[in-house]
Amino acid sequence: MAFPPQFLDELREKIPLSELIGRKVKLTHKGREYTGLCPFHKEKTPSFTVNDDKGFYHCFGCGAHGDIVRFLTESEKMPFIEAVEYLANMAGMKMPELSHQQSQIQKQQSNLLKIMETACQFFQSHLFSSIGTEAKNYLVRRGMSSDMAKRFRLGYAPTGQGLFAHLSEKGFNAKDCLSLGLIAKNRDGNGYHDYFYDRVMFPVMNKRGHVIGFSGRMLHQGEPKYLNSPETDLFHKGELLYGLPQALETVRKQNEALVVEGNMDVISLHGAGFTQAMAPLGTAFTEDQIKLLWTMCDEPVICFDGDGAGQKAMMRAVKRALPILRPGKSLRFAYLPNGFDPDDMIRKKSPAAFEEELKSARPFVEALWQMLLEGRTLNTPERKAKLEQDTKDTVALIQDASVRTYYQQEMAKKIRSLTFKKSKNKQTLTANLTSPTQSPQLLAYLIAYPEQGALFAEDLMRYMPTQDTLNTFADVIAYLTDTPDLTYETLWEKLSEDQQNFLQNAVDNVHSKQLDAETVLGQLQTLINMHKRTILAQEIADKNKLYLETENPAIKEEINTLNQELHALMHADE
Ligand code: UTP
Ligand code: MN
Repeated sequence: MAFPPQFLDELREKIPLSELIGRKVKLTHKGREYTGLCPFHKEKTPSFTVNDDKGFYHCFGCGAHGDIVRFLTESEKMPFIEAVEYLANMAGMKMPELSHQQSQIQKQQSNLLKIMETACQFFQSHLFSSIGTEAKNYLVRRGMSSDMAKRFRLGYAPTGQGLFAHLSEKGFNAKDCLSLGLIAKNRDGNGYHDYFYDRVMFPVMNKRGHVIGFSGRMLHQGEPKYLNSPETDLFHKGELLYGLPQALETVRKQNEALVVEGNMDVISLHGAGFTQAMAPLGTAFTEDQIKLLWTMCDEPVICFDGDGAGQKAMMRAVKRALPILRPGKSLRFAYLPNGFDPDDMIRKKSPAAFEEELKSARPFVEALWQMLLEGRTLNTPERKAKLEQDTKDTVALIQDASVRTYYQQEMAKKIRSLTFKKSKNKQTLTANLTSPTQSPQLLAYLIAYPEQGALFAEDLMRYMPTQDTLNTFADVIAYLTDTPDLTYETLWEKLSEDQQNFLQNAVDNVHSKQLDAETVLGQLQTLINMHKRTILAQEIADKNKLYLETENPAIKEEINTLNQELHALMHADE
């Protein structure tokens, strides 16, 4: 909405920025500026500055920056118009008349939001009425607390014409409801029917918490599992994140954001205390979404499902973000065990286990490197040269010169460590994104603490990954079982250079923690359990595929046994 610039300038002149901000933040005078604790992120020493002459605030900690209006829209989540009204009031100024066209647009916008809000309340009330019993039971079965259902304003869309009748009764017209995707034209061209019916409704909100669309989940098997609002004047799927208004405060304060795949994941994560979680609505993660995240925090963590689709989505995210990386702004990637999504992780495992995965999220540069190595066998000079070429071409896509330079250096280092050292043995290096993600960390513990590791050797033999990145597992476990009095130095020596390079960082990292024996045992046990589950889940998935092809009852038997084993493991940790 455009106001005459003179009007906004006059507002800025009349109200010292420090006076407005001073109502919320304790400011101290320092030279020409004021400083204080930043209201946009958590900090103990002030890095937030306010400059009345320039009319700007700036935080050296989180980069928050803006003028008097921006301060209100950001810190109080006021709509722009409301912020201007508030300031005009404060300055004792009269609001300028909007042009006819402008006020029409503004009216229409708020009318559309009102319709969406009315629909949201309609769905909400049905979830808690007798019509919604089945939907409510469904949510309870999925472990949804009523607190969370309220916080996320879940609802139920009944079968029939209920919503349209309700909206008409409230005086909203069909054209607007149609343009919002709440109703659809009947096939015969006469009249309308509700777009969503017999679905659990997840309202989708913008940053300020206004309902702009819906995602409706089927209660039963069927397609599509989630039906989303179509693109409308309010609803642009590629620009929003499910859970944003609920996550906003945490994201700002902790400078942490977490992006997961599903609506349900978001809600169960919030329920378990991960209130920084958000999700794209079933679309690929877009550049707009990445930029939106970067306005709130520096290094959002992406955690997609531990399955093939999740891995692919993760690689797409790497490609999307690469060109737009900026100093200080990046993404990190957390990997879940095969077959798990965050919701499973929390329920079948524990919030602590999920926290572990988040803590070990990999920096962007590592994910990129892994993507570049994916599917290659680097056993000839030509293949290595091709990797080098592809790496250069990829890094060249980074637009920011400074970030690009550092990537060039880092990647060159990684390539050198692969290519210019002579391999002691003929081992080939194939990287595989889908290999168990805990392997390097687990191996690092086994190598750094062989004495404790030896206690688990037998167990690990049973759960040896069939297709490990460097076959390092097989080697390490062989040494652990065969060699009494193994020390870190001797075990490390026994690895090939490729293996050492692959593990160097992980081992350094473990060593730097200087853990006592008991902690080491605990860590090893946790990692081994996670590892076992990954391996078992993979075995089950493979056998299931085989069973579908062959329908061999013996395989079904094996699957059952493996499932029992997996089940027992899950409960062993609880
Ligand atoms: P998933 O199929 O992984 O959903 O799709 P989920 O979160 O595990 O769902 P539950 O647990 O079975 O309820 C991930 C996300 O993709 C979008 C939804 O936003 C979903 O949360 N999606 C999925 C759609 O938009 N349409 C679909 O048909 C399916
Ligand atoms: Mn999922």
